[in-house]
Formats: sequence, structure tokens, C-alpha cells
Amino acid sequence: MKIDGAKIADKILTNLQIELSPHIFGQLAVILIGTDKNSQIYVNQKIKTGRKLGIPVSVYRYNTSISIDKLTKLVDKLNLDNQIQGIIIQRPVPLNLKPDKLNLMIRSDKDVDGFHPRSLFDPPVALAIAEILKSIHPLNYLNWLKNQKILIIGRGETAGKPIAKYFSKKCLQLHIAHSQTSNLKKLCLACDIIIPCVGRPNIVRHDMVKSDSILIGVGLHPEENKLRPDYQQEDIGDKVGFYTPVPGGVGPVNVAMLFKNLIKAASQTL
Ligand SMILES: NC(=O)c1ccc[n+]([C@@H]2O[C@H](COP(=O)([O-])OP(=O)(O)OC[C@H]3O[C@@H](n4cnc5c(N)ncnc54)[C@H](OP(=O)(O)O)[C@@H]3O)[C@@H](O)[C@H]2O)c1
Repeated sequence: MKIDGAKIADKILTNLQIELSPHIFGQLAVILIGTDKNSQIYVNQKIKTGRKLGIPVSVYRYNTSISIDKLTKLVDKLNLDNQIQGIIIQRPVPLNLKPDKLNLMIRSDKDVDGFHPRSLFDPPVALAIAEILKSIHPLNYLNWLKNQKILIIGRGETAGKPIAKYFSKKCLQLHIAHSQTSNLKKLCLACDIIIPCVGRPNIVRHDMVKSDSILIGVGLHPEENKLRPDYQQEDIGDKVGFYTPVPGGVGPVNVAMLFKNLIKAASQTL
């Protein structure tokens, strides 16, 4: 069965609109470096959702010649700006900057993407997966989840790593696979929930899933001018129990959870 991420996101945004009182004033600053097509799409989705909620989103666009010093000064300024409650540096950042250093730039109380090691916020992509899984099993969600074997494929900075960090806090049966994993098919068949976070075609194939598998597609790659998940959704969708499509799967829920974090940040400054 196809999971309707857009519908889940709409429900979250409707609840946020109710939560947003005139006293809660939020503003999001997004720093976008370079011309990566996917990053532009993600930033546009954030602007669109901000408009829907009446939350201003300011985008600071730079080309890849921006120096790390200039970027640091900009982030420092935004960190001190009381009008701004959330800051994002859109990943991937095409600069020679180590992830550890990048993750520390934004103040932990404004880091709505949850990259700072002491961020007050869980990463929206991990929260999005939790919301999607809750939509499958709303009753006793955590008890149900504790009995599921979860496989995260990928340990990258923006997807696999933050998702694994979030779910490992919940003491779940978690398995992580990566480019050096030799028995991926066996692992996939042994797990109930598969979360591919790679960004390449055919990572999970038809013969790697069970009829009751839950497939949550995070990784994306472009194909014929469209974004596609790490599996052939037309082929695999008929076989598994549940799967998220692209578009309309994890993406919209991710953006909705980002704004949930932003509203939390704004309400903490009251
Ligand atoms: N849908 C959303 O809302 C959302 C949010 C965030 C990210 N994303 C997408 O998620 C994807 C991953 O992002 P990222 O920043 O985490 O990427 P990344 O840093 O490039 O990490 C990719 C991971 O995939 C692993 N990998 C590569 N080839 C593999 C293979 N054949 N089998 C198994 N694992 C393999 C790599 O293993 P090694 O560690 O061994 O190199 C690495 O851990 C991207 O497509 C990104 O656009 C989507």
C-alpha cells in the first residue's frame, strides 16, 4: 500500500496552524550555497510551506566562492538576531568544510535541522519517518516499533546518520548497512522496516523484500528530470506491505516537521 506523505504533512500543518497564536512569532533563515538543483527544490518547498503557515522564510543565496570566514560571520549575525528563531544551512554544502565544524555553527537553540550535537531539536527527517510509521500503526506505536527489525541503509550526514541517532535513542532493533555491507539482500529479508538513505537507483530490489515489508524511501536521485527513490517504486510497491512514493512520501513530512521544530523554537523564546 502506498503511504500518502502529502496527506500526513497536511494534517501536521493544519495542527500547526491551530497552535500558531498571534503571540508566537517565527522566522526561518535558510542559507543556500551553490546551484544544486535538488537543494533549490528543497528550499522552494520550505518557502511554500512557510507561506502556507504565514511564517517568513528568508533565503541567503551565495555561490561556491563564499569564504568560510564570510559564512561564519553571516551565521554569527543570524545567531544573534532576535527576529530569527530558526537557521538552516541547506545540505549538501559545496565548501571544503568538515561536517563537525559545520554542525557547530548554528546555535543549538536555533538549529531546527538538528545537526548540532546539543541541538534542542530532533532532525526533521527522523521525525518524519516516525510520523509515517505512526500513521501505519497509531495504536501502541512505540511498543509495536520495539518488535520490528529496522534496517537503515546508509550512514551519511543528512540522512542515515541522523535517522540512526534518533531511533537508537528509542532502544529499537536497529541495523545499519553501507557501501561495504556484503549481505544487503539477506539483511533486507531479515528486517521488517527498511529505510534506504543512499541516493542511488536499485539499492533495494524486488527480490530483497517480503510481502509485509515496510519501505520508507529517504534517498533520492534524479532520473529523467524527476527525483526517484532508491527502489523502483512501480515494481516493488505491489509486493510490499507499505511503501513511500516519490514525490509525496518522506519529503513533505520532513518539511512539516521542520516547521514544527521552528514553532517549538519560537514558543521557547516567549
Ligand atoms: N527525502 C528527504 O527528505 C531527504 C532528507 C535528507 C537526505 N535525503 C537524501 O538521502 C540521500 C543520502 O543523503 P546523505 O547526505 O546521507 O548522503 P551521503 O553522505 O552521500 O551518504 C550515502 C550513504 O549511502 C551509502 N551507500 C552508498 N552506496 C551504497 C550501496 N551500494 N549500498 C549500501 N549503501 C550505500 C554510503 O556508504 P559509506 O558510508 O560506506 O560510503 C553512505 O553511508 C541523498 O539522496 C539525499 O538527497 C533525502
